[in-house]
Amino acid sequence: MSTKSKLLELLEKQKGSYLSGEELAQQLDISRTAVWKAMKSLRQEGYQIQAVTNKGYALCQENDILSGEAVRCFLENPEVEIQVFQEISSTSQVMKQKALESRLPHGSFVAANSQIEGRGRKGRSFYSPKGSGLYLSVLLYPGKTVQESLEMTAAAAVAVCKAVRESCGVSLDIKWVNDLYLQGKKVCGILTEAVTDFETGDIEFAVVGIGLNLYEPEEGFPGELRQKAGTILQKGQQVDRNRLAACIVNCLLKEVEKKGIPGEYIAWNIIPGRKIKLHSDFKSRIVLAERISEDGRLVIRNEQGQEEILSATDVSL
Ligand code: BTN
Repeated sequence: MSTKSKLLELLEKQKGSYLSGEELAQQLDISRTAVWKAMKSLRQEGYQIQAVTNKGYALCQENDILSGEAVRCFLENPEVEIQVFQEISSTSQVMKQKALESRLPHGSFVAANSQIEGRGRKGRSFYSPKGSGLYLSVLLYPGKTVQESLEMTAAAAVAVCKAVRESCGVSLDIKWVNDLYLQGKKVCGILTEAVTDFETGDIEFAVVGIGLNLYEPEEGFPGELRQKAGTILQKGQQVDRNRLAACIVNCLLKEVEKKGIPGEYIAWNIIPGRKIKLHSDFKSRIVLAERISEDGRLVIRNEQGQEEILSATDVSL
């Protein structure tokens, strides 16, 4: 790890408190000049660092630059591979590529401040502008079969709800199958992609991509998203995205260890009991959503009064 990274980690761990140049130099076993140079370089990268005579250096609380060093400070298992980008094509695309190239630890992840080619379900794009969200793709070796892949999406939905409640104090709703809502608007999308062993039907690895709309984008949401998309935080509210990213990963790794669909996924789902619109390639139909089954599928009552069980379909409220 570079001196700059080690320094950033120390500052992040004590965000808001002053650390003297001498203390930092001693902890890192470098000269005070080297500390000063690394500070200068961090500032040039945009980190808000205060320097006060006789007190030392402090990373400002408002600093919200996403960094691997900062996320690692809050991870329960820091022995994972972390890559953080200010801009990237797609965190899921990059995570998947890395996992194909070499075996990385379970729970490794790629995070970004913005994505140029953010991907959604069914080949759709996911709007990922800079400074307004958190885009994260986590690598899992889940020890599950293809039939159990819904368990990962469900685990991720529950994990994000728990992490958002802990970090932002906001309770989100789950909308079957992979969306999180707040006050009737989508604020998070989840995309689970798995690479399977064709012979055994087991999942070799999966990449769970999570896109959160935290703040209103600078120019607002574009086009038809304006009606559908919302944000987790309102004007004037702020969250430490590094801490939030770590909290999501910590929660996800716990949820995914559990067998089956988490009870919270069913309990926090807003679909049951509602008239919903189902979209397939050629037509839409309005049906009654009855319940989410124990294996995470949606049980509906169709136009003819018959029960149908769906595994993955586009649903709107
Ligand atoms: C959906 O709503 O259809 C799923 C959206 C998933 C978006 C996330 S953002 C992080 C990760 N990288 C991507 O390109 N997509 C997922």
